[in-house]
Amino acid sequence: MSSLPSSPGEKTTARIEPARGPLRGRLSVPGDKSISHRALLFGALAEGEQIVTGLAPGADVASTRSVLEALGARIERRDGGLVVRGDGALSLRASRQPLDCGNSGTTMRLMAGALAGLGIEATLVGDASLSRRPMERVAAPLRAMGARIETTDGHAPLKMSKTGKLRGIVHRSEVASAQVKSCVLLAGLRAEGETTVQEPERSRDHTERLLTSMGVSLDDATRGRVSLKGGQALSAVRVEVPGDLSSAAFPIVAALLVRGSDVEVEGVGLNPTRTGFLEVLDMMGAEVELGIEGASGGEPLGRVRARGSRDLEPVTVSGDVVVRAIEELPALFALAAFAKGRSTFRNAQELRKKESDRIAAMARGLRALGVECEELEDGLAVVGDPGRALAGGVTVESEDDHRIAMALACAALRSRDAVLVAGASAVQISYPGFFEDLDDLRGEERP
Ligand code: S3P
Repeated sequence: MSSLPSSPGEKTTARIEPARGPLRGRLSVPGDKSISHRALLFGALAEGEQIVTGLAPGADVASTRSVLEALGARIERRDGGLVVRGDGALSLRASRQPLDCGNSGTTMRLMAGALAGLGIEATLVGDASLSRRPMERVAAPLRAMGARIETTDGHAPLKMSKTGKLRGIVHRSEVASAQVKSCVLLAGLRAEGETTVQEPERSRDHTERLLTSMGVSLDDATRGRVSLKGGQALSAVRVEVPGDLSSAAFPIVAALLVRGSDVEVEGVGLNPTRTGFLEVLDMMGAEVELGIEGASGGEPLGRVRARGSRDLEPVTVSGDVVVRAIEELPALFALAAFAKGRSTFRNAQELRKKESDRIAAMARGLRALGVECEELEDGLAVVGDPGRALAGGVTVESEDDHRIAMALACAALRSRDAVLVAGASAVQISYPGFFEDLDDLRGEERP
């Protein structure tokens, strides 16, 4: 049994007992975080009532909601979801208080673009982790559009001053980042002329899909390049947020790690710009079955069934699949520790700029568990062994990063003695019920 973090904000240590038998069951996971942020924010910019169901329950999306409310957006719980009453952004006003984006990069970067477009004065702040993450990547293109925005040595706090109308630009981003792309496009929606973002690989396209379903016309026919004309209005829609594949990755990996397991996740988003994780599982020869169930809000969704029936092949992962699997790499590192040899993950330098340096954090965590790995500048090599049982009896650190906490908890299932995950309450960011779900899959009673 795993012990559970109790309340958000409280730092707790989870005790992960080894799996004594197969994991079994069917579950749904929290709503997609990326889509949830966008559904609320775009709703506040739109005409009409945006009804959002299945919203991600974690702290990150709560940050987007509270920032929007601090700016004057009207959001209420009704009709089985949250209703955002936008009036073409007219209700949004400058806030004297700093706007707290918490741990959420998506909140800060997308909000910066929206506020720049509206010319509203604001200061965006975040927690210690968010304040270490690079913000010039959004500030620089916004400045080129005419916004007045100051970073603090390239980081938050972001100070935005009142401006007039922005002008469209062609922004060539050095990184494939949906946050950068979305920030610039949101500013571009209110700018003079056309705004184009060109990125080295196509990042997740939730912004493009949701804007399209809200009546915005954009051109994304060329891979990695998207353009829109300023001055277009957004019309509110109903958004049914699918389950988050980035959360589903953890029960799926847990099932693949424990022999005999059979786990199915239902209603999960299967947007092809996000399914690199499933491509890597396929490369590893994992027994994973997909069933497309339909589409919701322009996003495909379905079920994923994973069976822990065989030893997995080691993999070399690099190139464009990395962008499509970026959030799931920590889970894949944990899985690779039990494959039939050395796996290498490259071109993943962006992982160093997430909620923690995820390359270093996973290298430290896996080594503490007794797994040999080599930290590379742009990734990680992990020496796998399908027959290994980790010793356990150690404490690993989440480094206050939700994905690290869950990835190390999955690896700990394959230990002889219990493993303590310090800072386990970080799961509140994206998957508050993770430890309960893990216990349910083990068939154990909740305390
Ligand atoms: C996100 C984009 C990705 C991802 C993050 C969510 C988004 O970040 O890692 O968790 O919702 O746009 P980058 O844009 O920095 O790659």
